[in-house]
Amino acid sequence: MARDWETQEHDVIVVGAGGAGLRAAIEAAAQGVSVGLICKSLLGKAHTVMAEGGIAAALGNVWPEDNWRVHFRDTMRGGKMLNNWRMAQLHAQEAPDRVLELERWGALFDRTKDGRILQRDFGGHRYARLAHVGDRTGLEMIRTLQDHAIHQGIDVHMETTVLRLLKDGDRVCGAFAYRRDRGDFVVFRAKAVVLATGGIGKAWAITSNSWEYTGDGHSLALWAGADLIDMEFVQFHPTGMVWPPSVRGILVTEGVRGDGGTLKNNLGERFMFRYIPEYFRAETADTEAEADRWYTDKTNNRRTPDLLPRDEVARAINAEVKAGRGSPHGGVFLDICARRPADYIKKRLPSMYHQFKELADVDITKDPMEVGPTCHYVMGGVRVDADSGASTVPGLFAAGEVAGGLHGSNRLGGNSLSDLLVFGRRAGFHAALYAKDRGGQLRVEPREVESLAREALEPFSRAGGENPYAIQHELQETMQRLVGIIRTESELREAIGAIERLKERAGRVRVEGEGAYNPGWHTALDLRSLLTVAECSTLAALERRESRGGHTREDYPKADPEWGKVNVVLRRKDGGIALAREPLPDLPAEFQKLLGEPS
Ligand code: FUM
Repeated sequence: MARDWETQEHDVIVVGAGGAGLRAAIEAAAQGVSVGLICKSLLGKAHTVMAEGGIAAALGNVWPEDNWRVHFRDTMRGGKMLNNWRMAQLHAQEAPDRVLELERWGALFDRTKDGRILQRDFGGHRYARLAHVGDRTGLEMIRTLQDHAIHQGIDVHMETTVLRLLKDGDRVCGAFAYRRDRGDFVVFRAKAVVLATGGIGKAWAITSNSWEYTGDGHSLALWAGADLIDMEFVQFHPTGMVWPPSVRGILVTEGVRGDGGTLKNNLGERFMFRYIPEYFRAETADTEAEADRWYTDKTNNRRTPDLLPRDEVARAINAEVKAGRGSPHGGVFLDICARRPADYIKKRLPSMYHQFKELADVDITKDPMEVGPTCHYVMGGVRVDADSGASTVPGLFAAGEVAGGLHGSNRLGGNSLSDLLVFGRRAGFHAALYAKDRGGQLRVEPREVESLAREALEPFSRAGGENPYAIQHELQETMQRLVGIIRTESELREAIGAIERLKERAGRVRVEGEGAYNPGWHTALDLRSLLTVAECSTLAALERRESRGGHTREDYPKADPEWGKVNVVLRRKDGGIALAREPLPDLPAEFQKLLGEPS
């Protein structure tokens, strides 16, 4: 197989073409620099579409009382105060403008009676805040951004997987990639690189993520010398499909609960009332009668516990199933037909209606759904400067799920779409400025590229060797079993041992055939990033000896105020991964006051 490569040159390359990547590319192009947008799959296929229920933004269309301060406060409380406060501030302040901009670019939204953008309830948001179009909001966002982007003179490189970032001295100078459709290599030379690769969900067996989400950006950044933070915080969305097995993990939008769906166990009990944590008690209805009143009379804003933040609901479902009160296929029931008529359900949740009808033969207008937690999102990611998205490596920027900080230990639903828009725009803008300001000829070292190509092709030339699918499967089962919703030291140690053994085996993988559209080879290449992010998550989970947000330690079941002051930081050292505890940015007094306000 050929070891040569083609070269592409852009001022800025954006790796990843979901919401953050598209928004970054649009903004960079608007600054007059040349932009290359690299997508692992086809343009438009992105995990962004899995944020179905809406974009969180304090537009105040349904509740005039809503404003960015309340949104900031909800985000920080949802993240159990581990959030980067400056990111949370920018996010809450800028989200409304980004939604209105999307509307100007052609996005359709559901409407209030007087014609404004309608907003729906979601977990952890004090007010109905999610701008949406039925349960297809992420899809509409991608469609709009894509339609807009393709008119901005951006070069799109589809079916292209970045395998390594290239550096000239300390500074990033491009990326080495392979094209899945041709099986050949390409070197992207660039003055600045924006990572927008999304998450790491494919390291777990049950996930809403599709095949692309193997932690590429997290790993590329780490290998290039950037810091990762908060990798222990992995979000298990409470409601994924559980049956039939072929669809296990597919997302069931939180919009179902936002629009009136309630969780029940096999005794018909609305069990969430037993799981209201002290932290959220003041703002949560604690009787069925009060919760039911909230659906019709929202002036009493003590909300149903079905809409507690995701970490709380996922743990509660997990506990019900463990206690033997689960549904026949290992989940619980989610019932919207008891409260809402069929035409309402079909109008508000058309994708859910079709998804269950087509995939599970369940009519959700007549019967409850069976649902259970599914690995959906990672709060941790590349440590970035809040304002610019710059990582700790010069020339390297990150935005969206691959960037850490905004969501702290647990993300609120709907805050990811707004995150992508707010910080995609910021990273694209600052990457373009960086590329303009720091000219100069950057050198890509041909010998380095030669060696990367040789390394990528090695699996073809091995005799015997390991099957990449077997390693991927074992990794997913390991992470699901040992680094799931509830963790313990002994299981985390067992996971580290298993990952080490899988890493050794991954060094011996063998593949056959040609380079073009070779899924075995692709899996072999993905294994490097999958194993890296699995190791990072597990190491960080072992390090954090407390329970907070998306990280629950059975052996340390409480939140510890000391741990609430630090991020776990991972960085490369001497060929391995070093861990450090580093203080969170100081929260200014004015924000402290805001967070202390009663709900
Ligand atoms: O449940 C959902 O619709 C997912 C939204 C999100 O992850 O933000």
